[in-house]
Amino acid sequence: MNVYDSSRISGMLKKEGYEETLKQADADIVLFNTCHIREKAAEKLFSDLGRAHLIQLEREEQGKSTIIGVAGCVVQAEDEQIIKRAPYVNFAVGPLMYHKIARILRDIEAKKIRESVVETDFPADSKFDFLPENKSQGACSYLAVQEGCNNFCTYCVVPYTRGAEYSRPVAEVIKEAERLVKTGTIELNLLGQNVNSYHGEDESGKERDFAYLIERVAKIDGLKRLRYTTSYPADVTDNLIACHRDIKILMPYLHLPIQSGSDKILKAMNRRHDSASYLKVIEKLRKANPDIGMSSDFIVGFPGETDEDFKATLDVVNEVKYIQAFSFKYSRRPGTPAAVMDNQVEEKVKKERLAILQDLLFDYQTKFNQSCIGKIMPVLLEQKGRHKGQLIGRTPYMQNLHVSTNDDNINKIVEVQVTEATTNSLSGKEIL
Ligand code: 5AD
Ligand code: SF4
Repeated sequence: MNVYDSSRISGMLKKEGYEETLKQADADIVLFNTCHIREKAAEKLFSDLGRAHLIQLEREEQGKSTIIGVAGCVVQAEDEQIIKRAPYVNFAVGPLMYHKIARILRDIEAKKIRESVVETDFPADSKFDFLPENKSQGACSYLAVQEGCNNFCTYCVVPYTRGAEYSRPVAEVIKEAERLVKTGTIELNLLGQNVNSYHGEDESGKERDFAYLIERVAKIDGLKRLRYTTSYPADVTDNLIACHRDIKILMPYLHLPIQSGSDKILKAMNRRHDSASYLKVIEKLRKANPDIGMSSDFIVGFPGETDEDFKATLDVVNEVKYIQAFSFKYSRRPGTPAAVMDNQVEEKVKKERLAILQDLLFDYQTKFNQSCIGKIMPVLLEQKGRHKGQLIGRTPYMQNLHVSTNDDNINKIVEVQVTEATTNSLSGKEIL
């Protein structure tokens, strides 16, 4: 979501006449887009800001001014504290206010405002209404269709930082998707914190679900691949499962976070599913498309998690055999119910459990990658590799794949036979 937000922000700034520079010392404006999901992500901001401040001071000696801004969820959570901790920050905008950035910059440059500006409202209007049209930045694009979350998992800051769930109207999504395809997108990833709870209005004012939206987007001429992320297990409907059977461009890969395999912990997390109902959804998905590869997020060391609870998580991993996964130590987030639960798990135990879980996850990921050797896969080539004549692309299963091929094939889908596999990537040769 933040990558998408950043590309919308840079699109807005380009329209204002700014251009991107890769060297911070050349930048008149430095803008950090931030994440507050875990403590580590938030702390990183302040060390990055410290470095940006040093460059700001160096540039000042050369008679150049530098505007430093912060966007995103850390701003929503820290509010005025950001300016207290880093007084050299000129402006800070929460994730629902970034359409204001262009205006704030104009005011700062015209010296209309001298004080630091902090904008953290949750506005009644959608920010999407105020942003310039989004254009493709390559063959793969993200498109936000839903934002915010009403689930209030007890460990999570998202409902507080991104606000209540909001679904963009169907027509608006289709218009943005068509524009992206017209400007070069062949793979589209529909985004939302809880994307499958989408319930936007269609052209006649009727509320539509996520399966309907997928069917509409899949009909766009020229679109070759469709994905969505992140979905919530309890909101996977039978209609959505049918999409995985019927829509050929819907890729056979699904990120469906379970977080923990223990029903006791899932309850304490305020998740609206247990492990059995989660596994049932996967069983139905596999019936709809036997080739589907699963991915998930896991949290270890949630308050009250015992060895037995942790073992239940390993059991789910052994049952599902994920082809990819993301796993984290529980991080206490201020303002969330779990942060004040009194049965917090020791750091040492969290560390041990994470290592055990990751070993098992990597094992399945490696096995899956190795099972691909010899197969021919359509690979969307996205960027140049380290070696001359080598391009890197993505398989239908989101694996990175290296292949020697003509540079002209960038942003195209080519058929590749997989020849080698490691935990994190594949190599192959082009089938001509
Ligand atoms: N601690 C650890 N991981 C968290 N996540 C969300 N909040 C926390 C937290 N407080 C993880 C969840 C979620 C992913 C985006 O981040 O696994 O699915
Ligand atoms: Fe956070 Fe996802 Fe739970 Fe919403 S559903 S509160 S975004 S973990």
